[in-house]
This record gives sequence, structure tokens and C-alpha cells, in this order.
Amino acid sequence: MLRISEYSALAEAKIRALDFPKDKLSGLYAPIAYGMQAGGKRLRPTLLLMAADAFGNCREKAIMPAVGIEMFHNFTLLHDDVMDNSDLRRGRPTVHSKWDENTAILSGDTMLTLATKYISEVDDAILRPVLDTFNDQALRVYEGQRLDMDFETKEEVALDEYIDMIKAKTGALLGAAAKIGALIGGASKEDAEKMYEFGIMLGVAFQIEDDYLDTFGNAETFGKPIGGDINNNKKTFLMVKALANGGSNAEALKAALKMTAGPTKVKTVTRIYEAMGMPAISKAEVANYSSKALAAIKKTSLSDECKDAFRKLIDKLITRNK
Ligand code: IPE
Ligand code: IPE
Ligand code: MG
Ligand code: MG
Ligand code: MG
Repeated sequence: MLRISEYSALAEAKIRALDFPKDKLSGLYAPIAYGMQAGGKRLRPTLLLMAADAFGNCREKAIMPAVGIEMFHNFTLLHDDVMDNSDLRRGRPTVHSKWDENTAILSGDTMLTLATKYISEVDDAILRPVLDTFNDQALRVYEGQRLDMDFETKEEVALDEYIDMIKAKTGALLGAAAKIGALIGGASKEDAEKMYEFGIMLGVAFQIEDDYLDTFGNAETFGKPIGGDINNNKKTFLMVKALANGGSNAEALKAALKMTAGPTKVKTVTRIYEAMGMPAISKAEVANYSSKALAAIKKTSLSDECKDAFRKLIDKLITRNK
């Protein structure tokens, strides 16, 4: 197998080479090029290419579906940034703040269709399972995003409700990327399912880390404004776990939820999290789900070398700062 950075470079190069209509329809396509070509970690296409190579040594065959999975991810980001009222992503203005909300809606819709087209560029023999996997995960993402919004106004969210929500909004796409790559590589049904399970667990670890970085990260490296989740009353891992712990800090947190959004609210909530030891608690949960991801990989029939490549990917993601 190649190194992780080589897989992401392959995806990056193909994405850079995408050619969108300019002239008349630039209002539709320029925001897509802007969103897609702004960088990002390229985690999902990397995962898809790695799985295709691990099972079938066929990264070339997997490149368009890999671009498709990244296109889908970026489509969700255009809409997510409207829903979360986020002005900054990857260190640049989001599409709806650079253009407007209508642009984010319609260019987002277009990205979903382009994603489906690219994902469909697989052998006829596996087209059905690939499309089923892709469409099922898409529904899970929308379900997760709906719950994420509902939870903003829900006073209490149990930890297992939160985990189910992030398995859907974030885990499903990672699971699908790993499974589709495996299917392209000719994996058995059993192995493809284990790869899906791996992606889900990786996604949970990844989202808990994203929640942590949204409060405790560095805006410059993270590329998103720090404290956005606090201002939106998001039921992040930090919030759910802190509220569940009870006691005077949890009461203070409930009061802070009612504060007007702004730097004072962010500072107040952050201090409470610190007082409760939430950074370490959150790191421990990331480690817990990373081991579940690794356990799923270990159950596959892959060689030790391939298993090790996925272990390295897990390690890279949980020690990230962006
Ligand atoms: C952001 O995904 C959305 C989440 C699921 C947290 P990434 O953190 O993978 O974003 P990019 O693509 O690297 O910018
Ligand atoms: C990401 O959730 C989930 C999807 C985009 C589907 P977030 O709302 O936490 O993602 P960021 O932090 O804006 O990237
Ligand atoms: Mg969101
Ligand atoms: Mg968001
Ligand atoms: Mg986030």
C-alpha cells in the first residue's frame, strides 16, 4: 500500500483537475469549485482509495468514486454552514457568506447530483450495492443533521442519543467510503460490512474530536471559528457529558445555555468545561471509539500490512489539530 499522504495527494490532484463550466453558469459552478478546491483533509476519498487498494490493489479504478464521496461531503458542508450559521471554513468565508444562501442551496444540490454521477463510475457488477450503500448513508446523514438541529433546543440529550446522532451525521459517510472502496476492491460481503463498521466507529471518534476542537482548538489551524458550537447551543460531546455529570457545574452550564451568543458565553462555557476536566474526558472517549474502529479492522481478512495502514490513519486523525 501507499502512504496515507500519497492517497490524499491522488484525491487532491483529481479534484484540482475537475473542470466546471465557467461563463454563463458560473453562479452555479464557481461556488462548487470554490468549495471543492479549498483543501481540507480529504479524509473520505483517502479512506475509499485505501480500502480499494487494500482489498484489490485498484486505486485507479476507485478514483472517481473517491472524488464523488468528497463531493458529497462538501455538499453537506455547504448546507451545514447555512444551518449552523458558520461564516468560516478551511480559513475562508463559507459559500453562503461569500455568495448567499440561495447559492449554497442550489450549488449544494448540484454537488449531490455530481457526487452520485461520480460514485456510479464503477463496474456494472457492483453498481447496485455501491449505489445502495451511497444512498443509505445519505439518508443517515440527513437524519443525523435533523437530530443535531432538534437537539439545539432540547434541554437534555442522553449520551447514547448523542452517539446515535453522530453515527448518522458523520459516521455513515465514513462507513460508506470504507465499504464502497472495499466493494470496488472485490471484498467479500463480510469484509465490506466490517469496513462499514470500522468507518462508523472512526466517524464517532472523529466527530468527538471535532467537537473538542470547536472549543479547545486553534482557530488558525482548525479553520473554523472557535466557539461556534457553544453559541449554537449544540449538544456536543462536551455539552452532553458535562450536563450528565450533574452537580453545580452542570447547573452553571444550564444557566450559560440561556446567555446571548457571543465571546462572553463562549468564555463562560469553556471555563466550566475546563473545571469539569472535559478535555481529558473527551480525549478518553476518542481513544475508546478508536479502539472499536481498530477492532473492526482486525476482524477483516486483510493482511497485517493493510491493517497497519488503517491503524495509522486512526492515529493520524485522533492526534490532529485541524
Ligand atoms: C467536517 O469534516 C465535518 C465533520 C464531520 C466534522 P472534516 O473535518 O473532514 O472537514 P475537511 O474536509 O477536512 O475540511
Ligand atoms: C458535521 O457536523 C456533520 C456534517 C457536515 C454532515 P458539524 O456541524 O460539527 O461540522 P463542522 O464543524 O461545521 O465542520
Ligand atoms: Mg452541523
Ligand atoms: Mg457545522
Ligand atoms: Mg463541528
